Amino acid sequence: MKYLPLLFCLSILACREELKVDYEAQKASVFPQAAIAGPHPLATQTGLEVLRRGGNAIDAAVAMQLTMAVVFPRAGNIGGGGFLVYRAADGETLSLDYRETAPSAAKRDMYLDTAGNVTEGLSTRGHLAVGVPGTVAGIVAMHERLGSLPWAELVQPAIDFAENGYRLSESEIDRIKRYHADFTEFNDFTPFSDSTLGVGAQVKQPDLAATLSRIRDLGHDGFYTGETADLIVTEMESGGGLITHEDLSAYEPKWKEPITKAYRNYRLISMPPSSSGGLALAQMAKMLEPYPLEEYGFQRVRSVQVIAEAMRRAYADRAEYLGDADFYPVPVDSLLNDAYLLERMADYRTDSAGTSTDITAGQVAMKENFETTHISIVDSLGNAVSITTTLNGNFGSKVMVDGGGFFLNNEMDDFSAKPGVPNMFGLVGKEANAIQPGKRMLSSMTPTIVEKDGELFMVLGAPGGSTIITAVLQTFLNVAEYGMPLPEAVAAPRFHHQWLPDEILYEPDALADGVLDSLEALGYQFREVNSMAVIKAVQVLPDGSLQAAADPRNPDDDVEGY
Ligand code: GLY
Repeated sequence: MKYLPLLFCLSILACREELKVDYEAQKASVFPQAAIAGPHPLATQTGLEVLRRGGNAIDAAVAMQLTMAVVFPRAGNIGGGGFLVYRAADGETLSLDYRETAPSAAKRDMYLDTAGNVTEGLSTRGHLAVGVPGTVAGIVAMHERLGSLPWAELVQPAIDFAENGYRLSESEIDRIKRYHADFTEFNDFTPFSDSTLGVGAQVKQPDLAATLSRIRDLGHDGFYTGETADLIVTEMESGGGLITHEDLSAYEPKWKEPITKAYRNYRLISMPPSSSGGLALAQMAKMLEPYPLEEYGFQRVRSVQVIAEAMRRAYADRAEYLGDADFYPVPVDSLLNDAYLLERMADYRTDSAGTSTDITAGQVAMKENFETTHISIVDSLGNAVSITTTLNGNFGSKVMVDGGGFFLNNEMDDFSAKPGVPNMFGLVGKEANAIQPGKRMLSSMTPTIVEKDGELFMVLGAPGGSTIITAVLQTFLNVAEYGMPLPEAVAAPRFHHQWLPDEILYEPDALADGVLDSLEALGYQFREVNSMAVIKAVQVLPDGSLQAAADPRNPDDDVEGY
């Protein structure tokens, strides 16, 4: 059965109040030549101006990422890391890994107490939670290889916002107020003093403007050496953090072959390790390919069950095998082998729930701590950019570099602090993702580009911690299997299974009537959550125009184009 827009609208209306998501405020538009979907209007407008000036998708992405570091401080960053997946107009594909690394003084057991238990909060808050940032190195590398406009021109808009002022959005003000106590706990000054927090007030960030000016003038060295590096190291020393000058100057982004996998007449192009995203997405899609999802129907018993079982298996492999492939022999080829993936579903039964194991994992903190961010861009030449970047939690470690004006990540929590003990997303890991100096912590970020019949079809990705991968999968399936227009595919309520905890999380109205009862009767456990990953996507329509869709789950999500 094809997906029915009317039924979908009714279900959306029914869930609007509970979710507190204003679905009618969703921003989505069709543009003839170039399109951007991103997390903040000032960033998308900056990207649009770059495209209009003749910049390409990478130029727009560079300017947007730096602008986001100013106007969207809870997730936009220069103190974090990220991933780029790129498809050139001629079909060449690339990925860039600018994930953070563990400092050289990091130790495998650094978050354990003398009894061998994980010390609550040590990997998530404060100076010891910070990994060596990769964002600036990544942005410089992508510009050097693929950009077309002069570097300084692309950094300038961010400097202008920081120097001249901009309006914080209501949602950003809300977050800043919520984390005020954390800011004062980990900083000797108050980032964003109360006086700046009125709606409509202009915020200026002179320290950040000075840091960005050094990056404009010196590129990579404006962050990893000299004054900015001195400020970071001083900040680390003041709070017991580990990052040294040597760690900063040793940091390198890495160009990698993307993960690619065919699904019917589509090809998924996504991020390889140190993200788990591309591999798990490819695994889930391939496991699902033999099943007639369209015939099962959208979010009906059979489709929810088989998709959840594919999710469960991919996340089980994630926990066992995935980590930084430069430090651990991640069996990428075996995990993506078609025969292996077919066999993986051999024990799937429609008449009962599988079990994940009897290991007890903690509850997933779904509401607060997944402030990553994503941009999807297609330029007028047909180049496509999918970038996900993060500080990990809201405002990362909550440590702002004194004198530098930017927050530092708390990405160390994405390592497995102890085998089997869940991180803040409830994800467990083992040896593959154990802490080692210089190693990248495993991510769930899933910047993705999809081809259909060999042509560019879709660019998508999301913030949302462990739910990113399943959100990308479901958004793709909503379009490819259920025939939804992109805006509905992005907004549709979702569900999520990550092996452990052994439960299916679902947004209100994600399941058609009776689905939950039927699956509970088979032994599945369910938990309703308020929100999941926040997709930003662009789709190439049959006439070549570009449909951009923001996600109503984030009121600041925006689309632009021309
Ligand atoms: N920090 C979230 C992720 O990389 O998955």
